[in-house]
Amino acid sequence: MSHESRSNADARSGDRDPSLLRSHRWFGPDDLRSFGHRSRLKGMGIDDADYRGRPVIGLLNTWSDLSTCHSHLRERAEEVKRGVLQMGGFPVEVPVLSLSEMLMKPTTMLYRNLLAMETEEVLRSHPIDAAVLMGGCDKTVPGLLMGAISADIPSVFLPAGPMLNARWRDVTLGSGTDAWKYWAERCAGNLCDGDWTEIENCIARSAGTCMTMGTASTMACIAEALGFTLPGASSVPAVVAEHSRLAVATGRMAVEIAWEDRKPCSILSRESFENAMTTQLAIGGSTNAIVHMIAMSRRSGQRIALEDYDRLSQRVPVLLNLRPSGKYLMEDFHHAGGLPALWSRLQDLLHLDARSIDGKTLRASIDGARIIDEDVIRPRNNPVYANGGTCVLRGNLAPMGCVIKSSASTEQLLQHRGRAVVFENYADLKKRIHSPDLDVTADSVLVLKSGGPMGAPGFPEWGMLPIPEKLLKQGVRDMVRISDARMSGTSYGTCVLHISPESSSGGPLALVREGDTIELDVPNRRLELCISPEEMEQRRSAWKAPVSAATRGYTYLYSQHVTQAHEGCDFDFLEGHDSGKEPDIF
Ligand code: FES
Repeated sequence: MSHESRSNADARSGDRDPSLLRSHRWFGPDDLRSFGHRSRLKGMGIDDADYRGRPVIGLLNTWSDLSTCHSHLRERAEEVKRGVLQMGGFPVEVPVLSLSEMLMKPTTMLYRNLLAMETEEVLRSHPIDAAVLMGGCDKTVPGLLMGAISADIPSVFLPAGPMLNARWRDVTLGSGTDAWKYWAERCAGNLCDGDWTEIENCIARSAGTCMTMGTASTMACIAEALGFTLPGASSVPAVVAEHSRLAVATGRMAVEIAWEDRKPCSILSRESFENAMTTQLAIGGSTNAIVHMIAMSRRSGQRIALEDYDRLSQRVPVLLNLRPSGKYLMEDFHHAGGLPALWSRLQDLLHLDARSIDGKTLRASIDGARIIDEDVIRPRNNPVYANGGTCVLRGNLAPMGCVIKSSASTEQLLQHRGRAVVFENYADLKKRIHSPDLDVTADSVLVLKSGGPMGAPGFPEWGMLPIPEKLLKQGVRDMVRISDARMSGTSYGTCVLHISPESSSGGPLALVREGDTIELDVPNRRLELCISPEEMEQRRSAWKAPVSAATRGYTYLYSQHVTQAHEGCDFDFLEGHDSGKEPDIF
């Protein structure tokens, strides 16, 4: 039933009509199937009064004992349930795949699509009228949202929230970003074992997601920009009382969207995706989000592309001063006013009439927002990075595109020609990168192959190739690095990523040889392998496709159906959505 006709029905009856709920198909009819459904709930101690005539709210929770960033989400589930009950809903908690960025190998990206499939099917196959999607650690956000978009069942997202700022002695530490930084110092011999252990003891101060502007924080902001959260939700720290209150309010909202039948595809539009891209660029967000956003857009039918990013990147400044592009952390962003405050500085670049899951416009979210700290949320005339914070490059090395986060790169390296030092795969890199015999200088270009969606497989975060130890000891802290892999959103450096098509599918990266010259020209958006077209052709005819090690199970399915980076790395058979499609057999 459409939003309009349901509202009309409500208006006519003057009350809520339970037969309009999706779950009514399971519980309402006087037939043998429904008898079975109801009697089994009674067997669980659930009475008619608990659920009949009430919207069933599914809490899809990515908590697990192995999900380090979500250790508080069991507790939050109880708080969400409180909000659902307050509004007369019936909450049911449903565990879904936990994707623990820290502990899951080879990479959670291999399993993002599995969570998306699970979310879609769990929502479609159960008597759920609306969902609260509970996640936050990197791939859980796109996984949950992609599934909810394809199922097109009303859904609101509760971000797990960032960790509190970490402190080591008198230094503020940011997860990921400072781990890379101090690891380089340790490798250079500037940090003793005791210091390193002290950092290990305090860099993760609480439950919650990485508190830098890594992929988790970026995706939380994108979820808010797309309209999937309550206003201001993306920056609320994981372990403060405000986060508990947010959970309760999210539960209340879930009941409202169930009655209003406010589906993901009814709020997603070209404009909302442009708002989300603008937001990502203004926060100096993770490059990983580009892949996720393309995948989400293709699920919804909007189909944004790399070119859209590059177009917006030319005019959107980086205003948020957070690591790795800047100085502060998510807790500081929250105290500075959060996303509504940041948006208030970007109103001319946003579509203010785009609607959120709460039924209100972006304009309404911004209304009353105040900027508390001008150094965290910078004014337009004093940005962290004027524009082009994230750039899309093309050239004979990346015919379908690749990306670089210029705002987290070394400016002098953004136009650079250097001699390629080539690693055929990650094992080769690990074996040789720190060898004293490696023929490398600070001007070399480090090249990694077989890091893409099919090749690795799973598109891991290998793109911030380590600086060779002998150069670290000489004081080198950045070099041009290129690969078909991703890098963590908490990472930094002059790293060209997501080269498409990837080397394992025969992309030109596969043809690079040790000693070739590579030219990076970010201002002109170019990445070139400096060999003749004839030489390129000759190498291409001699290239042999690697034999895939993925021969069974999920990894085989993945290797057969994953799309390339510029297409979002979704499975080719999962794009689009099934709005209104319901299970047939009752
Ligand atoms: Fe979970 Fe960074 S490891 S968000």
